[in-house]
Amino acid sequence: MASQAEPQARTRIAVQAVSKVFSDQPQKALAMLEAGETKDVILERLGTVVGLNRVSFDVAEGEILVVMGLSGSGKSTMLRCINRLVEPSAGAIVVDGTDVTRLNQKDLLEFRRHKFGMVFQHFALFPNRTIQGNVEYGLEIQNVPKAQRAEKALAAIEVVGLKGWEAKYPNQLSGGMQQRAGLARALAVDADILLMDEAFSALDPLIRRDMQGELRQLQRKLGKTIVFVSHDLDEAIALGGRIVLMKDGAIVQIGNPEEILLAPATDYVRRFVEHIDVSSVLTAERLADRGVAVLRAGHTAAEARLAIASCQQTSWYVTDEGGRLVGRATREQVERCTGTIGAVMEAGCDRVEASATLRQAFARLAANRDGVAVVDDRGHLIGTVTHRGAARALARDTAGTAAASAEEARHGLVHPKISA
Ligand SMILES: Nc1ncnc2c1ncn2[C@@H]1O[C@H](COP(=O)(O)OP(=O)(O)O)[C@@H](O)[C@H]1O
Ligand SMILES: [Mg+2]
Repeated sequence: MASQAEPQARTRIAVQAVSKVFSDQPQKALAMLEAGETKDVILERLGTVVGLNRVSFDVAEGEILVVMGLSGSGKSTMLRCINRLVEPSAGAIVVDGTDVTRLNQKDLLEFRRHKFGMVFQHFALFPNRTIQGNVEYGLEIQNVPKAQRAEKALAAIEVVGLKGWEAKYPNQLSGGMQQRAGLARALAVDADILLMDEAFSALDPLIRRDMQGELRQLQRKLGKTIVFVSHDLDEAIALGGRIVLMKDGAIVQIGNPEEILLAPATDYVRRFVEHIDVSSVLTAERLADRGVAVLRAGHTAAEARLAIASCQQTSWYVTDEGGRLVGRATREQVERCTGTIGAVMEAGCDRVEASATLRQAFARLAANRDGVAVVDDRGHLIGTVTHRGAARALARDTAGTAAASAEEARHGLVHPKISA
């Protein structure tokens, strides 16, 4: 999986046991939540609506975290608690070291303006302002001087692909364009945490898909940290980051799309993900069998023969000293080799990028009987996707994944990789 949340990434937002109860007197309901009662039981006994039930998760620097769940599961309430548009009833929310729940009103306003950009489902543009006027709005509130305001607004308008439309009014733009304007408004204030609530849900499916792709690119380019609320699992998967799956105000599972698909935490999650086509989610990186033997271009014939002595295969990938995939050598080529492997191998070979989905790898798999090599973005060999591994993944048999391959390697079922 793309490393959206590498362990070393700094935590930007820590949501710690946050509960929200819609009541002037939340104590009873909170105590019932602590005792393990559900939202339904609390509503029935107290008539109190539970919005959030002890929710905890972290958002790392530069990740797109998707809060997902059916309507009414508490997503918007959760998002709004982060900048306290909704007051949490219990728990803490720490953003860049500041506990937002402890800020006084004045500090909160300041914090909100500088840390967060918000984008909603309904674009909430002012109809009587031009696109530029709308995008400048947040900067006006911050008392940014006029010239600088225009400069920042135009830069943001360009980033979202609306250059040339700045003097138009919202009703002159399509829904997709209006949403871009909404995004530009959030970007213009330089807030590097974006809170997006069903931001694309009102858009036509094709435009929506484009926007998802663009948001990913934008997020990478600008290094924004994004919390994205969506009721749509396909969208959550398309955005590529970790998913926080909610039900009845509580979290049922947190994980990347692959984990949620292949290892659903509950029956509820299993049913939720049933319709998803795993081949469009699983990546070559995840499926790569890392236990296969590899030859080096610099190997002498004797070294190579020793290395493959106990192998059943009929051909091997060849890498250079840096681990980059440079070719493939057959048993026959190794056997008639007199110099180095590099001189007898077949240079260049079919490959897929680590980030390719299984679906994208199918054509290459079909063309290669022994599976297909997986390389990282610098061309380093990571492993092989085999037909068996692909078929197992489609059967949602988690034994077909890389973790299981490592397990098999430990038990000697595949050949250990030759180290330099
Ligand atoms: N202001 C409010 N007063 C009472 N109940 C609310 C309020 N806002 C949300 N709720 C309730 O909280 C729960 C979660 O709502 P919400 O966060 O809007 O869900 P989602 O965004 O996942 O659709 C729902 O049961 C909803 O009815
Ligand atoms: Mg909502």
